Amino acid sequence: MEGFLLEYGNLLLRWLHVIAAIAWIGESIYFVMLDLSLRAPKSELSRNAGVAGELWAVHGGGFYHNQKYQTAPAELPQDLHWSFWKAYTTWLSGFALFTLLYLLKPQFYLVNPASPWAWAAGMSGGEAGLLAVAFLVIGYIVYSRMCCLISPTMQRDGILSVAVGVMMVVVAWLTTQIFPGRAAFLITGALMATCMSANVFFWIIPGQRRMVNAMKAGEAPNPLDGKRGKQRSVHNTYFTLPVVFLMLSNHYSFTYTNEYAWIIMSLFIFAGAVIRQYFVLRHVGKNDLKLPVIGIILLALIGWLAAPSPAPTPAPTSAPTTNQPAAAAGQTAAAGTEQVAAAGTDAITIDQVHSIIVARCTECHSAKPTQPGFPSAPAGIMLDTNAETLMHAAQIKQVVASKYMPLANLTKMTDEERAVIAGWNGK
Ligand code: HEC
Repeated sequence: MEGFLLEYGNLLLRWLHVIAAIAWIGESIYFVMLDLSLRAPKSELSRNAGVAGELWAVHGGGFYHNQKYQTAPAELPQDLHWSFWKAYTTWLSGFALFTLLYLLKPQFYLVNPASPWAWAAGMSGGEAGLLAVAFLVIGYIVYSRMCCLISPTMQRDGILSVAVGVMMVVVAWLTTQIFPGRAAFLITGALMATCMSANVFFWIIPGQRRMVNAMKAGEAPNPLDGKRGKQRSVHNTYFTLPVVFLMLSNHYSFTYTNEYAWIIMSLFIFAGAVIRQYFVLRHVGKNDLKLPVIGIILLALIGWLAAPSPAPTPAPTSAPTTNQPAAAAGQTAAAGTEQVAAAGTDAITIDQVHSIIVARCTECHSAKPTQPGFPSAPAGIMLDTNAETLMHAAQIKQVVASKYMPLANLTKMTDEERAVIAGWNGK
């Protein structure tokens, strides 16, 4: 029951998270479009009132007339609309989801026994959880210090953008060394998303409040507040597409179980930023086709890096003659493992494959999983029968070859068994 409640909580949180993110990012994309599409006001009246630009739009059967003031209107209305709850809701629901999915089961999802660094491979679940949270907190502090030190008066924003890009590559590399690939992509995405929300919380909104307060007191607002808010909001603009990719990457294990995972992640971040830049420029009437071409080249490069290598060599003839690993895992794959040993390089049958699956996978991937903490088949993949195994053949071969499965190699799959799956033709 507890497992089910966690699962249902997960669904509800994810629903909220996606809706809040759509609302926030949608609003952000809308305001970038609005700001860049403003044209000089047509009427004398507007110009005299201090209007710097306006946009006429038709939407949902109504006509809209947006006006942006040079600094501020002569008088601010009491019911000024502020945008921040969407950003906060997105972060809070995202962090709650991260807690439910990762921090409650860090030993499965955050510890990477295959890490090249022994200290990381040997971390306890609790340590890995703390480190993941530290990535978000320290990552934001480093990013924010960089903004303040490199371009305090927004005079070196170009250099700052390069520095932020380099920082994201370093984070991509570090996370893929320390955490399992899936978590590495999520933590990098969560760090970028944390920077975005923290930009709203610590910089954009407080700056706007100071400006509003100054205006209400009849004083001139500090222009640095406006410029700083703009600097952070520009970063948010270029973070959006990469963050959405990193959040979705969890469904595509070929991205993060790849040996080039950190390069793939970095290329996606740049591809997202470049594609966003194309749309930003379009709003000001520039159709710079170089940008989408660069984006497409980056995406093609990713496809090339992520593509599975040609069929691996068939199962070695020296397949295991004992069935100790299976016995160690408390499974009953003895018969199957022996069959594999006998079969050698002959065509590998579905029965041989399925006996390995039963030994190593169905603890989780079953209509009734026996592994504690897994109330239902993960990713909806059930491998109880030959037919189900056949149905998922391609995916099974991919996740076994990349060692993404069994998760954290909890069921102690051997390299020989992996070789059998690799040599299987999927039929
Ligand atoms: C300890 C539990 C556990 C074991 C054992 C396990 N898996 Fe998984 N598996 C999971 C979880 C959790 C997911 C979902 C992770 C995700 O969403 O990426 C998953 C996802 C998958 C997926 C979908 C991956 C994708 O691209 O979304 C496949 C295929 C898969 N497992 C196959 C296997 C095979 C084959 C084995 C045995 C060799 C195995 N699993 C063993 C827990 C397990």
